[in-house]
Amino acid sequence: MAEYWHKNPERVEAINKYLESQPEAEVILYGEIAEMDFVNAGKGSSDVKNTLKRLGVDPDTLRRIAVAAYEAEINVAAHSRGGKMTSMIFDDMIHIIYEDEGPGIADIEQAMTPGFSTADDLVREMGFGAGQGLPNIKKNADALHIQSEAGCPTTVDIITYFA
Ligand SMILES: Nc1ncnc2c1ncn2[C@@H]1O[C@H](COP(=O)(O)OP(=O)(O)O)[C@@H](O)[C@H]1O
Ligand SMILES: [Mg+2]
Repeated sequence: MAEYWHKNPERVEAINKYLESQPEAEVILYGEIAEMDFVNAGKGSSDVKNTLKRLGVDPDTLRRIAVAAYEAEINVAAHSRGGKMTSMIFDDMIHIIYEDEGPGIADIEQAMTPGFSTADDLVREMGFGAGQGLPNIKKNADALHIQSEAGCPTTVDIITYFA
Protein backbone atom coordinates (compact mmCIF):
# COMPACT_ATOMS: atom_id res chain seq x y z
CA MET A 1 0.00 0.00 0.00
CA ALA A 2 1.41 3.39 -0.97
CA GLU A 3 1.54 5.97 1.77
CA TYR A 4 1.75 9.77 1.96
CA TRP A 5 2.48 11.83 5.08
CA HIS A 6 2.40 15.53 5.72
CA LYS A 7 3.20 16.70 9.26
CA ASN A 8 3.37 20.31 10.44
CA PRO A 9 7.03 20.63 11.57
CA GLU A 10 5.92 22.42 14.74
CA ARG A 11 3.72 19.47 15.73
CA VAL A 12 5.84 16.50 14.58
CA GLU A 13 6.85 15.48 18.10
CA ALA A 14 3.32 15.65 19.47
CA ILE A 15 1.93 13.79 16.45
CA ASN A 16 4.50 10.99 16.68
CA LYS A 17 3.97 10.64 20.41
CA TYR A 18 0.22 10.41 19.86
CA LEU A 19 0.58 7.80 17.11
CA GLU A 20 2.86 5.68 19.31
CA SER A 21 0.73 5.81 22.45
CA GLN A 22 -2.74 5.54 20.84
CA PRO A 23 -4.63 7.05 23.80
CA GLU A 24 -8.37 6.67 24.28
CA ALA A 25 -10.49 9.52 22.88
CA GLU A 26 -12.76 11.67 25.06
CA VAL A 27 -15.48 11.76 22.39
CA ILE A 28 -15.95 9.62 19.27
CA LEU A 29 -18.27 10.53 16.38
CA TYR A 30 -19.17 8.20 13.50
CA GLY A 31 -20.59 9.04 10.08
CA GLU A 32 -21.47 7.16 6.91
CA ILE A 33 -20.72 8.69 3.50
CA ALA A 34 -22.62 7.32 0.51
CA GLU A 35 -21.32 7.35 -3.06
CA MET A 36 -22.41 10.48 -4.97
CA ASP A 37 -24.69 11.63 -2.12
CA PHE A 38 -23.98 15.35 -2.21
CA VAL A 39 -27.13 16.10 -0.21
CA ASN A 40 -25.76 14.42 2.92
CA ALA A 41 -22.02 14.66 2.31
CA GLY A 42 -20.92 17.45 4.60
CA LYS A 43 -23.09 16.33 7.51
CA GLY A 44 -20.19 14.55 9.16
CA SER A 45 -17.94 17.58 9.02
CA SER A 46 -20.70 19.85 10.30
CA ASP A 47 -21.33 17.43 13.23
CA VAL A 48 -17.64 17.66 14.05
CA LYS A 49 -17.73 21.44 13.82
CA ASN A 50 -20.76 21.74 16.09
CA THR A 51 -19.28 19.37 18.67
CA LEU A 52 -15.94 21.20 18.76
CA LYS A 53 -17.72 24.54 19.00
CA ARG A 54 -19.59 23.28 22.08
CA LEU A 55 -16.27 22.16 23.54
CA GLY A 56 -14.95 25.70 23.16
CA VAL A 57 -12.46 25.29 20.30
CA ASP A 58 -11.44 28.69 18.94
CA PRO A 59 -13.02 29.93 15.67
CA ASP A 60 -9.87 29.84 13.53
CA THR A 61 -8.99 26.27 14.50
CA LEU A 62 -12.63 25.34 14.05
CA ARG A 63 -12.60 26.75 10.53
CA ARG A 64 -9.41 24.88 9.59
CA ILE A 65 -10.78 21.58 10.89
CA ALA A 66 -14.13 22.11 9.14
CA VAL A 67 -12.46 22.88 5.79
CA ALA A 68 -10.22 19.80 5.94
CA ALA A 69 -13.03 17.52 7.11
CA TYR A 70 -15.43 18.77 4.44
CA GLU A 71 -12.93 18.22 1.61
CA ALA A 72 -12.14 14.69 2.81
CA GLU A 73 -15.82 13.86 3.14
CA ILE A 74 -16.64 15.19 -0.33
CA ASN A 75 -13.77 13.13 -1.74
CA VAL A 76 -15.28 9.92 -0.35
CA ALA A 77 -18.66 10.83 -1.91
CA ALA A 78 -17.21 12.01 -5.23
CA HIS A 79 -14.38 9.55 -5.86
CA SER A 80 -15.17 6.35 -3.97
CA ARG A 81 -17.96 3.78 -3.63
CA GLY A 82 -18.71 5.20 -0.21
CA GLY A 83 -17.23 4.86 3.23
CA LYS A 84 -17.24 6.02 6.82
CA MET A 85 -15.61 8.62 9.00
CA THR A 86 -14.55 8.25 12.60
CA SER A 87 -13.69 11.38 14.58
CA MET A 88 -11.71 10.97 17.77
CA ILE A 89 -11.67 14.07 19.93
CA PHE A 90 -9.05 14.56 22.65
CA ASP A 91 -8.29 17.39 25.10
CA ASP A 92 -5.86 19.05 22.72
CA MET A 93 -6.64 17.76 19.23
CA ILE A 94 -8.90 15.89 16.83
CA HIS A 95 -8.03 12.87 14.69
CA ILE A 96 -10.48 12.05 11.89
CA ILE A 97 -10.18 8.82 9.86
CA TYR A 98 -11.92 8.32 6.51
CA GLU A 99 -12.10 4.74 5.24
CA ASP A 100 -13.74 4.04 1.90
CA GLU A 101 -14.48 1.05 -0.27
CA GLY A 102 -12.18 1.86 -3.18
CA PRO A 103 -11.33 2.10 -6.06
CA GLY A 104 -8.25 3.74 -4.55
CA ILE A 105 -5.69 6.29 -5.75
CA ALA A 106 -3.10 5.08 -8.28
CA ASP A 107 -0.60 7.90 -7.66
CA ILE A 108 -0.97 9.81 -4.39
CA GLU A 109 1.73 12.43 -5.20
CA GLN A 110 -0.15 13.26 -8.41
CA ALA A 111 -3.46 13.44 -6.50
CA MET A 112 -1.81 15.95 -4.12
CA THR A 113 -0.91 18.28 -7.02
CA PRO A 114 -3.04 21.47 -6.96
CA GLY A 115 -5.47 21.37 -9.88
CA PHE A 116 -5.22 17.62 -10.49
CA SER A 117 -8.65 15.97 -10.61
CA THR A 118 -10.24 12.86 -12.04
CA ALA A 119 -13.75 14.14 -11.20
CA ASP A 120 -16.37 13.10 -13.77
CA ASP A 121 -18.94 15.42 -15.38
CA LEU A 122 -21.58 14.75 -12.74
CA VAL A 123 -19.19 15.68 -9.92
CA ARG A 124 -18.16 18.84 -11.81
CA GLU A 125 -21.81 19.80 -12.33
CA MET A 126 -22.22 19.63 -8.56
CA GLY A 127 -19.49 22.24 -8.30
CA PHE A 128 -16.63 19.93 -7.26
CA GLY A 129 -13.54 18.79 -9.12
CA ALA A 130 -11.25 21.82 -8.98
CA GLY A 131 -8.44 19.62 -7.72
CA GLN A 132 -7.85 21.77 -4.63
CA GLY A 133 -9.30 19.44 -1.99
CA LEU A 134 -6.23 17.47 -0.96
CA PRO A 135 -3.91 20.54 -1.15
CA ASN A 136 -6.46 22.38 1.02
CA ILE A 137 -6.47 19.58 3.59
CA LYS A 138 -2.67 19.66 3.69
CA LYS A 139 -2.72 23.42 4.20
CA ASN A 140 -5.30 23.37 6.99
CA ALA A 141 -4.38 20.24 8.99
CA ASP A 142 -1.41 19.56 11.28
CA ALA A 143 -1.16 16.07 9.78
CA LEU A 144 -2.47 14.43 6.63
CA HIS A 145 -1.89 10.73 6.09
CA ILE A 146 -3.12 8.92 2.96
CA GLN A 147 -2.86 5.19 2.35
CA SER A 148 -4.07 3.84 -0.97
CA GLU A 149 -3.30 2.14 -4.24
CA ALA A 150 -5.23 1.34 -7.41
CA GLY A 151 -7.95 -1.24 -6.76
CA CYS A 152 -7.81 -0.80 -2.97
CA PRO A 153 -9.68 1.14 -0.31
CA THR A 154 -8.33 4.58 0.60
CA THR A 155 -7.67 5.64 4.18
CA VAL A 156 -7.20 9.32 5.00
CA ASP A 157 -6.15 10.55 8.46
CA ILE A 158 -6.43 14.19 9.45
CA ILE A 159 -5.01 15.45 12.75
CA THR A 160 -5.37 19.03 14.00
CA TYR A 161 -4.33 20.48 17.35
CA PHE A 162 -6.43 23.09 19.10
CA ALA A 163 -4.73 26.45 19.54
N1 LIG B 1 -11.21 8.86 -1.44
C1 LIG B 1 -10.70 8.89 -2.67
N2 LIG B 1 -10.79 7.77 -3.46
C2 LIG B 1 -10.27 7.77 -4.71
N3 LIG B 1 -9.65 8.82 -5.28
C3 LIG B 1 -9.53 9.95 -4.54
C4 LIG B 1 -10.05 10.04 -3.22
N4 LIG B 1 -9.77 11.29 -2.75
C5 LIG B 1 -9.11 11.92 -3.73
N5 LIG B 1 -8.96 11.13 -4.81
C6 LIG B 1 -8.25 11.44 -6.07
O1 LIG B 1 -7.45 12.58 -5.88
C7 LIG B 1 -7.82 13.61 -6.81
C8 LIG B 1 -7.59 14.98 -6.22
O2 LIG B 1 -8.47 15.20 -5.11
P1 LIG B 1 -8.83 16.69 -4.70
O3 LIG B 1 -7.56 17.44 -4.52
O4 LIG B 1 -9.77 16.65 -3.55
O5 LIG B 1 -9.54 17.27 -6.00
P2 LIG B 1 -11.02 17.00 -6.58
O6 LIG B 1 -11.82 16.31 -5.51
O7 LIG B 1 -11.51 18.36 -6.89
O8 LIG B 1 -10.83 16.13 -7.78
C9 LIG B 1 -9.26 13.28 -7.16
O9 LIG B 1 -9.65 13.84 -8.39
C10 LIG B 1 -9.21 11.76 -7.21
O10 LIG B 1 -8.60 11.32 -8.41
MG1 LIG C 1 -11.86 16.86 -3.59
